[in-house]
Amino acid sequence: MLYDNLSVNDAGHLCIAGIDACELAAEFGTPLYVLDEDRVRKNCRAYVEAMHSYLPEGSRPLYAGKALCFKGIYPVIEEEGMGADVVSGGEVATALVAGFPADLLFFHGSNKTDAEIAYGVEKGVGCFVVDNLNELGVLSREAQAHDITQRILLRVTVGLDPHTLAAINTGKVDSQFGVPIETGQALEFARQALATPGVEVMGFHSHIGSQIFEPDSFCDQVDRLLAFACSVRDELGFVAQTFNLGGGFGVPYVEEDPTVDIAANIAAIAAHLSDGCARTNYPMPRVLLEPGRSIVANAGVTLYTAGGTKTIEGYRSYVMVDGGMTDNPRYALYKSAYTVLNASHAADDADFACTIAGRCCESGDRIAEDITLARPERGDIIAVLTTGAYNFAMSSNYNRVLRPALVMLRDGKARLAVHRQTIDDLLALEV
Ligand code: LLP
Repeated sequence: MLYDNLSVNDAGHLCIAGIDACELAAEFGTPLYVLDEDRVRKNCRAYVEAMHSYLPEGSRPLYAGKALCFKGIYPVIEEEGMGADVVSGGEVATALVAGFPADLLFFHGSNKTDAEIAYGVEKGVGCFVVDNLNELGVLSREAQAHDITQRILLRVTVGLDPHTLAAINTGKVDSQFGVPIETGQALEFARQALATPGVEVMGFHSHIGSQIFEPDSFCDQVDRLLAFACSVRDELGFVAQTFNLGGGFGVPYVEEDPTVDIAANIAAIAAHLSDGCARTNYPMPRVLLEPGRSIVANAGVTLYTAGGTKTIEGYRSYVMVDGGMTDNPRYALYKSAYTVLNASHAADDADFACTIAGRCCESGDRIAEDITLARPERGDIIAVLTTGAYNFAMSSNYNRVLRPALVMLRDGKARLAVHRQTIDDLLALEV
């Protein structure tokens, strides 16, 4: 089993955190997003404890809500001592409605609208991660109108190319996120921000990409960010209190993927930063990280009901499921590998070679290709593992397929956290 919260019971059914997946499917219907809350908490603790041990006071992980944003996640994040990274008015509102403290929100976005900036300032968002000069003027105006000094971080790009998918590789010079160091524009960005009324620059933000397995990439990022901070100190006399290194720790989706040791990665980053600071005589900044995937991905499983199989003689066999790219577009978008099991026969040999096809009118609607699982009958429950991140968050109503429900598991019990979408919900906005 890919994760230690998965097991098989006497009935041969897959269990998630000790709960029978077939019983969950029977109670809540399919497709169903299942989130093991204890696993989320364990992942949070790995960050909180390591950052506490290896980094200066005030360092903390901020949960990147883009990975999975719904009201029920925020109390968990808060109880575990994390802040949150939010990227839109919608994410800010979700966190606030859930009771999350505004001052622990870090508001991201490469093109925040005037309305979003005004809303964030009014609600008391703790820190804006300013992406570019376009938004700085609006933020300054709003902060002054509310008679506050808004804390900000400046988002810069360090010009790094970690080996990950192009679509989620954001640290390169040619990127729509942040301002590049290499071209000299980031220094100018800092110069202007430091002279802007109504804002206080706390430091710098950089995010190099997602699903990264090697700590070396983060150490390179630290080197480049520190070199930039030193040039800002030398040129402008400003010393950053905060380095926000973004998210990006990878998680295994299939057995062949490596596992990232969160604590070891953080220890390596901390040691590297502290050496660099000693070498350059730079005061050690507090560090923020923005993990999304590594908090929720391996806590999530999606359950489907198999509609049966279809074999195209001489080609391949398909397993048809009652969801697909509408609840998980990641294979269609990135060809992301997934581990798929027949949850109704989890102890049987996985010897049926097949492709898992969704129900949309589109041949790209697949969840996994050329995998093996125990041959399903119509009605069997199919489990796709590691779907906690960027599945619910990226779901759609393509073909007017309804969005699944989401249940959270804790202490051996399941509770509904997001209702299954209904036809009435689907039509609610239409006049
Ligand atoms: N911080 C910033 C500024 C980000 O842009 C991201 C992710 C994160 C933090 C969180 O990164 P994580 O720890 O989750 O790797 N939809 C893609 C992933 C896009 C990631 C976008 N930014 C996927 O499904 O793989």
